[in-house]
Amino acid sequence: MKPTVIVLAAGLGTRMKSGLPKALHELAGRPMILHVLDAVRGIDPQRVVVVLGHQADRVRAVLDGYAVTTVIQERQLGTGHAVQQAEKAIADAGGPVMVLCADTPLLTPETLRLLAERHNRTCAAVTVMTAMVDNPFGYGRIVRSKGGVSRIVEEKDASAVQKKIREINTGIYCFERNFLLSALGGITTDNAQGEYYLPDAIALARRKRRTVGAVVCPNAEETVGINSRVDLSAAEAILRRRINRHWMLQGVTMHDPETVSIAQGAAVGRDTVLYANVRIEGTTRIGENCVIMSGTRIADSTIGSNVTLKDYCVIEKSEIGEKSSVGPFAHLRPDTVLRPGAQIGNFVEIKKSVIGEGSKANHLSYIGDATVGKDVNIGAGVITCNYDGFQKHRTV
Ligand code: UD1
Ligand code: CA
Repeated sequence: MKPTVIVLAAGLGTRMKSGLPKALHELAGRPMILHVLDAVRGIDPQRVVVVLGHQADRVRAVLDGYAVTTVIQERQLGTGHAVQQAEKAIADAGGPVMVLCADTPLLTPETLRLLAERHNRTCAAVTVMTAMVDNPFGYGRIVRSKGGVSRIVEEKDASAVQKKIREINTGIYCFERNFLLSALGGITTDNAQGEYYLPDAIALARRKRRTVGAVVCPNAEETVGINSRVDLSAAEAILRRRINRHWMLQGVTMHDPETVSIAQGAAVGRDTVLYANVRIEGTTRIGENCVIMSGTRIADSTIGSNVTLKDYCVIEKSEIGEKSSVGPFAHLRPDTVLRPGAQIGNFVEIKKSVIGEGSKANHLSYIGDATVGKDVNIGAGVITCNYDGFQKHRTV
C-alpha cells in the first residue's frame, strides 16, 4: 500500500531569528519545504498532508503546483500535537503513515523508499530513521536496549551519559496508521520543554509490547536538520556539492566548484567551463561549449552554445544567442535578446532591447527599449534616450 505522508511545517523557527517562516528559507534558490515535497513526490504517496501554523498563508502560497492537503496547527505545542492536527486528513489512509519535517531538506526519495520498505517488511508499530553523526548536539538521541530502540531522549531532557550517544533521531518516521492514532492520545507534556513530543511514540510502542524498527540512514548528510542559520549554510554547502557533482559528471568543467552555485532548476550543457564565483540562478539554461568567467551572475536566462561571458557580468531574464560574447562588467537587464554572434563589451547596460545578429556595442553604452538590426556597430559612449520624464520611447 502506498504511504500517506505528513510534513510538519507549523513551527516558528525561533532559532532562525527571522521574520520569514523557517520552511521558506531557501536552499539552492528554493524554499526548503519544496525540497522536502520534491523528495516526497519521488515515492508516489497516496496523499500528502502539510501541517501549517506560523504564517500559514505565506507558506501555503509557495505550495502551488503540489498536490497537498493543508491543515492548521493554531498553537505550536510540539511535534506530537502537530501530527494530531492531521488526524482527520489521514483517516482514510490505507497504507502506513510517514512523518517528515519541513526542516530536513536534503532527503532523497531513495532514503524514504528504504524506510518504507523496511517498515513494510516488519510488523513494526513504528520505524524511525536514525543517523550516526559526529556532533549530535541538538538532536534527539536514540536510546537502545536489548530489544532494540527503547526510547528517544531530547537534548534538553538528556542525561550527561545520553548526551554522548551519537545515534540521533532524524525526525523521519513510518507509522502503522492505527498505532499512530492511538499513540497521539498517549503523548504527554511531561518533559523539559512542556511540549507534546512525537518521538515519545517510540517508548509508548515498547510499553504496548509492539515492535519498534530503526533504519540507520546510509548517508547521514541527507538528514541534516535546519534550526539555525549555521545549519542552513551547512546544508547549502552539502547541496551545492551534490548539484555541482551532478553537472561535472554531465561534462561541465568547474575551476573552483566550492564557489560555484547552480540553482536546483537550472541546467548547464557539456563542455561548458565555469570559473570561480559563478552563480547560475532560477530557471537558467546554458548551452554547450560556453565559457563563463569569474564573478558572473545569471538569473532566469537562456544562453545558447559557444557563448563567452567574461568576468563580472549580471544577466537577468535575458536570451543570448549562440557565439555571442558579453562583458567584462556588462549588465543585461530583463527582456534583453542578443541574436547570434552579438558582442557586448565593458560597462554596457542593456534593457528590453533586441541586438541583431553580429551587432556590437563594445564600450560604455546604455541601450534601453531599442531594436538594433544586423551587423550594427554602436560606438563608445552611445546611449538611447528612452525616457522623457513621462513616457518610455523605443529606438529602432
Ligand atoms: C525534532 C525532534 C528530534 C529530532 C530532530 C531532527 C521532537 C520533539 N524532536 O527536534 O528528536 O532529532 O527533530 O531534526 O520532535 N513543528 C510543528 N509544530 C510544532 C513543533 C514543531 O509543526 O508544534 C515542526 C517544525 O516546523 C519543524 C519540525 O516540526 O519542521 C521539527 O520541529 P523542531 O522544533 O525543529 O524540532 P527539533 O528541536 O529539531
Ligand atoms: Ca529541527
